[in-house]
Amino acid sequence: MGIFSGKEIVLGVTGGIAAYKACEIVRELHKGSASVHVVLTASGAQFITPLTLQTLSKNPVVTDLFNLVSESEIGHISLAQRANLLLIAPATANIIGKIRNGIADDMLSTVVMATAAPVLIAPAMNSQMYASAAVRENVATLRERGFHFVEPDEGELACGTVGPGRLADVGKILEMGRIILSEKPLAGKRVVVSAGPTAEPMDPVRFLSNRASGKMGFAMARAARRLGAEVTLVSGPTALPDPHFLATVRVRTAEEMLGAVTREAEGADVVVMCAAVADFRPKKPSSRKIKKDGFGLKVELAPTPDILESLGRKKGSRLLVGFAAETDDLAQNAREKMRRKNLDAIVANDVSRIDIGFESDNNEVRIFFPDGEVMDLPLATKDGIAVGVWLALNGKLLRR
Ligand code: CTP
Repeated sequence: MGIFSGKEIVLGVTGGIAAYKACEIVRELHKGSASVHVVLTASGAQFITPLTLQTLSKNPVVTDLFNLVSESEIGHISLAQRANLLLIAPATANIIGKIRNGIADDMLSTVVMATAAPVLIAPAMNSQMYASAAVRENVATLRERGFHFVEPDEGELACGTVGPGRLADVGKILEMGRIILSEKPLAGKRVVVSAGPTAEPMDPVRFLSNRASGKMGFAMARAARRLGAEVTLVSGPTALPDPHFLATVRVRTAEEMLGAVTREAEGADVVVMCAAVADFRPKKPSSRKIKKDGFGLKVELAPTPDILESLGRKKGSRLLVGFAAETDDLAQNAREKMRRKNLDAIVANDVSRIDIGFESDNNEVRIFFPDGEVMDLPLATKDGIAVGVWLALNGKLLRR
């Protein structure tokens, strides 16, 4: 079950060319099982029809404060009170100025003023307008008052100029919504998560690697961020884009990952090694492409550094958590790794099952602790498992 599930979200759509992107926002929220109520301003309705938004949201779209039918059925106060989150996307300079100055002359500005729910504003406008002193000051004041913003992206704008002003990526806006709606048990914690495989070069073309997709590690990093931690993700080569609102360091080899994780672990409260670090590397990588007959059917290997083991040797007060991908004797192997690497917990999953692990979007794990306690997290999405792992770690170790 995702974070939006069961949530009441009021989506304000104002008059800008990006209003069409509200459709995608509504669809995504709806897919996440949120109940979406769209408030469309008069100028917003010049760009997109209420019927479109009503069809997608499956709820009546409210456009007019003084419409007697809609006010009796779904009035501005009831919308303001029922909202778990009020999202305005796209937000024009006009609505931002009105909110800052306490003007409530239409449905959207009235709902904003009447709500106690968090308000997330995603501005979209011409770069010059966005850079204007009035907008800068309004945004800064609203931030101080606790309003949340997702800054616009840079790029080519509908007016022909290039610069900041384009509505932020919908995925980014939704991610900020998830962050806002999540509890924050990890607030104040600094977390490092590693993810993905490593790739050990043989020559400029070939490398030794493994099947890790990075999905579990990325989910662990995202979940920690949503739960309030300051997060750095150290990722080996994966096809996944950098997660929003956290720092991502990209590496390729085990040696590079050792360097990045060791550096980032300084001052961290928790290090979670989710990466499937290659255990061996070609001993003498060639700077030139090795010809087919140059291998002699043999590649000499050397061990890579064990990152967790090296962190475990100078642990300090930091918590160290490993992941173990096993095909046999899961409990025994996981416990042995936890002991050998001096870990505070190890999360184990059975990668011989095709419904979980590696490229799958789902997982099912057992968490082992040095005191013998074992926690089972049943089959769920990797996002769901990640939240479960963090809550388990927090309950048992971090809240000490
Ligand atoms: N790990 C690490 N550095 C390595 C290998 C593994 O930090 N060179 C970490 C992984 O990120 C994981 C944990 O150690 O958190 C267990 O990894 P796994 O590959 O299951 O264990 P190995 O020690 O490599 O043992 P084996 O391959 O024999 O199962």
